[in-house]
Amino acid sequence: MTEIVLEGRNIVRDYHVGGGLFGKAKTVRAVKGVSFTLEKGKTLAIVGESGCGKSTLGRILTLIDPQTSGELLIDGKPINIAKDRVTHEMRRKVQIIFQNPYGSLNPRQKIGEVLGEPLLLNTKKTAAERRDLAMQMLVKVGLGPEHYNRYPHMFSGGQRQRIAIARALMLSPSLLVLDEPVSALDLSVQAQVLNLLADLQDEFNLTYVFISHDLSVVRYIADEVMVMYYGEVVEYGTRDEVFSNPQHSYTKTLFAATPKSDVASIRARLAKKKVAA
Ligand SMILES: Nc1ncnc2c1ncn2[C@@H]1O[C@H](COP(=O)(O)OP(=O)(O)O)[C@@H](O)[C@H]1O
Ligand SMILES: [Mg+2]
Repeated sequence: MTEIVLEGRNIVRDYHVGGGLFGKAKTVRAVKGVSFTLEKGKTLAIVGESGCGKSTLGRILTLIDPQTSGELLIDGKPINIAKDRVTHEMRRKVQIIFQNPYGSLNPRQKIGEVLGEPLLLNTKKTAAERRDLAMQMLVKVGLGPEHYNRYPHMFSGGQRQRIAIARALMLSPSLLVLDEPVSALDLSVQAQVLNLLADLQDEFNLTYVFISHDLSVVRYIADEVMVMYYGEVVEYGTRDEVFSNPQHSYTKTLFAATPKSDVASIRARLAKKKVAA
């Protein structure tokens, strides 16, 4: 039996901008009625150029911002954060990872505390238990117990993204929204982090929404692909359907601009490298 972890029904998001001293108030519709379903353990990639509404949708899916209209269902339960009380349990289930983890890491907090904090705030685990779980998670993301007492500035970009992933996993979420998680990393490090994400997905049966503008990355990681264009979904299907037979003229242009060699080289790197970034 398939289990639907995430569903969107005609999700809309408006921003009200201007209306200050100099401008007329106006409404920008950033997401214009998006619908999809996502099964447990699968990856939906959301693709499209800058400004098409990907991050806006990602924030709605992770209960950071409310939708203006439409329905969001997590594990079959409708939720609208503008109206409903969001339970701890709901918050725990959905986690988000951003392009630049440095911005969300407190420079004065040791990595052990970074990882222990979600447990401290949301569970009754003792300090010793929190420490053990943090140590175990460091290993799972390809770091080690020796990193427990280090500060964020002592890590490389790839390692910091591993820390962000570890922190997101501390409360055993079922859904991870990854908003351009490897876009700021060097190509070889990108491959290693993608590899890690694939391994973690298998190990924890995680469901991913993977936001990216990079088709070579999407081709590697996605089961399903949604292409957005000015807030609308212009293409939605399995990876193979979308890649082998793009329907919309925007998608055709987008795909034509991506060198095919990128795909082959990313796969080759993934096969070769399994060491920590
Ligand atoms: N907080 C905001 N207030 C007003 N407009 C916004 C806000 N956030 C995003 N937008 C607008 O919504 C549209 C979609 O933005 P975004 O979701 O960030 O796109 P993407 O992640 O695909 O680059 C853009 O036109 C952007 O300018
Ligand atoms: Mg964005």
